Amino acid sequence: MVMAISHSFRFARASLVHHSNGLKSFAFRIPVSSVSTLATKKKFTQPVASLLEFGGVKIAKDDVVRDDPTNNVPDSIFSKLGMQLHRRNQHPIGILKNAIYEYFDTNYPNKFDKFDDLCPIVSVKQNFDDVLVPADHVSRSYNDTYYIDPQTVLRCHTSAHQAELLSGGHNHFLVTGDVYRRDSIDSTHYPVFHQMEGVRVFSPEDWEASGLDGTAYAAEDLKKCLEGLARHLFGSVEMQWIDAYFPFTNPSYELEIYFKEKWLEVLGCGVTEQEILKRGGRSNNVAWAFGLGLERLAMVLFDIPDIRLFWSTDERFTSQFSQGQLGIKFKPFSKFPPCYKDMSFWINESFTENNLCEVIRGVAGDLVEEVQLIDNFTNKKGMTSHCYRIAYRSMERSLTDDEINELQWNVRDQVEKKLNVVLR
Ligand code: DAH
Repeated sequence: MVMAISHSFRFARASLVHHSNGLKSFAFRIPVSSVSTLATKKKFTQPVASLLEFGGVKIAKDDVVRDDPTNNVPDSIFSKLGMQLHRRNQHPIGILKNAIYEYFDTNYPNKFDKFDDLCPIVSVKQNFDDVLVPADHVSRSYNDTYYIDPQTVLRCHTSAHQAELLSGGHNHFLVTGDVYRRDSIDSTHYPVFHQMEGVRVFSPEDWEASGLDGTAYAAEDLKKCLEGLARHLFGSVEMQWIDAYFPFTNPSYELEIYFKEKWLEVLGCGVTEQEILKRGGRSNNVAWAFGLGLERLAMVLFDIPDIRLFWSTDERFTSQFSQGQLGIKFKPFSKFPPCYKDMSFWINESFTENNLCEVIRGVAGDLVEEVQLIDNFTNKKGMTSHCYRIAYRSMERSLTDDEINELQWNVRDQVEKKLNVVLR
């Protein structure tokens, strides 16, 4: 799937048709699968707290993971709720959040309200309708989003909180949180990652004196603000603005910076659609908004080669970072080679790669590093075969042959049972 860490933005129109950064975009090409294959639950490998709390809201495991065809949340995802990497001051994600806070606190003292404890369980209305995501948008599918029930999802972006905060009277705010997306498996994709959303509202007196209309004024202010943020994080880098599309903003842009000899997409942003402001009781206002993926930036700033490392509790990872120190270069401690296993099967109409990846993660957890389609053909009878290469590697230790063989047998077994495909 296409989204917001390497995750280019899921809501960008461009992401429906092509991928920057050479990422896979199959999620948008393969028809949405039936719900039934998704309801199967995975064994979990980590102990899971059974009662969580977010800003006073208590959540039990049964509230999130249910054996019901309209629920596609596996145990492995429930185990990530409440981890809140973004609230740990010594963790790269928390360090980056704090560095962004510092930029806003310095440049707009006492202006931006900060939220980092909003519950990740939101309604379909909050996640999609309130930010004008079209009814037929691919991101609403069970293939792409974790549904708790037909009206409730794990937020797939922090934009899910824009509308309620605007209606609540907030004019300047930053929302940081964990977001959840069903996706492919590689070094930059993980079904949970972190985003920060920023919104600033203007009143007529802000733009009237400038001689610009509200939209032009907000767009100019937005670009100035975000260029400053990029310099605060990356130093004096070359930048470019790319015209983009998001359902919630118009005009919309992406900011790219030239870093380590590559153009890197930093964030998506734009001038908030007037309809969102109107519904929030702000017809006379104009606003801007941005959303950025924290892992994507942290991987670059801290030289972290694999997104799974953010979840590592290995001291050789965690001890390398200190509060307030942005950009310490991570020194890899795992030199273990990956081990590759191939599997081929005849697919059926409801097969999707996201479902396959979910099953593989359910068995192998963070030991799976990448799942890649390496062969694909249709025979004379119209049956389509896929061959996938699975890379297994631990970030922390070397895996034994026996261990990998067992994983692979389990993966084959579960893929056959849960996805109803025929192994070859
Ligand atoms: N929600 C978008 C995503 O996850 C990111 C984003 C883009 C947020 C533009 C915004 C925005 O607030 O204005 O793909």
